[in-house]
Amino acid sequence: MLDYTNPNLLVDTATLEAGSTAWRSPSNLAIVKYWGKHGVQLPRNPSISFTLQSAFTETLVEYAPKTSTEEGIELEFLFHREPNEAFRAKVLKYLESLTDIFPFLRQLQLRVQSGNSFPHSAGIASSASSMSALALCLCTIEDTLFDTLGDDEAFERKASYIARLGSGSACRSIYGGLGLWGKTDLHEGSSDLYAVPFQEAHEIFQSYQDDILIVSRGEKAVSSRAGHALMEGNPYAPARYQQANARMQSLLDALRAGDLETFGQIAENEALTLHALMMASNPSYMLMQPNTLEMIYRIRAYRADTKHPVYFSLDAGPNIHLLYPQDIIHEVRPWVDAELAPLCEENAYLPDFVGEGPEEI
Ligand code: DP6
Repeated sequence: MLDYTNPNLLVDTATLEAGSTAWRSPSNLAIVKYWGKHGVQLPRNPSISFTLQSAFTETLVEYAPKTSTEEGIELEFLFHREPNEAFRAKVLKYLESLTDIFPFLRQLQLRVQSGNSFPHSAGIASSASSMSALALCLCTIEDTLFDTLGDDEAFERKASYIARLGSGSACRSIYGGLGLWGKTDLHEGSSDLYAVPFQEAHEIFQSYQDDILIVSRGEKAVSSRAGHALMEGNPYAPARYQQANARMQSLLDALRAGDLETFGQIAENEALTLHALMMASNPSYMLMQPNTLEMIYRIRAYRADTKHPVYFSLDAGPNIHLLYPQDIIHEVRPWVDAELAPLCEENAYLPDFVGEGPEEI
């Protein structure tokens, strides 16, 4: 069992120089979804996602030797350049949970600044980009101070593991292209503890379009964390986990073969299954909004009329992810502008596509 606990990662604060690190890390869109977890952030089923490009978080971590003699972690947190107490408390709790892995955190004075390229809590997985960006910064600090993570694979694996502890879906954002998380016999090297890159997809999926149609920028009524917890009492949960495993097989085959129809059918059914599970939870809740459904009808009608392989997915929120290959962008875009954008809050949508993964900035 992989265990990153390491009491030796302590610095000599008398000689340590102040430093900083910054990462830009993207959000991701799961095709087979992670919904339901157990233990310490372990998934009930394997999942696979597109790593996005335009929806990202940038995080800067500045560190210096601590001057106070207090035990705890010293943290200042700014979100979009403003102090944010709610986020600071979350980040502090997360960092405290990591002190067996990064004991040096207790020796430092930390200043974290973070910002997103998209609205917070709008169902765009902000926890995926923010937690992966922070995890990458922490691993970079470890490597700078101790020279322990020079090997790219070791660095990414640890960053993915650390990101998972912050938010499950975040562990997949460490890789460009597609990220796969959760132990499955279908993919060698897969693990519940960290994600791995899925590099066998047909080239059409290396540049896939994923336009995010913002039905609502409002804060979600029920967090993903609470949603996962409700899966524990959901009578459909065991069937769901079986279905997710079976779908992984069909999806991986479709990804390898470039089979857009099978890919699209699975993507849509996964999105609707996720929301059906929410509706069937106790208490029941619903994150789709009237315009989410209106868009789904319009997307399906457009597909039937034009035969273009345009499909949708949803995250845990009301927004639509519109999925299509980049070679039909010039046909699809005018239709999005005319038929879907008017159903978005302030006509807003975020054109996005499968990206190259995080970048140190
Ligand atoms: C619907 O990763 O946000 O986006 O681990 O509690 O932080 P926590 O949950 P989170 O769940 C996201 C679930 C999803 C599907 C997915 O990304 O696989």
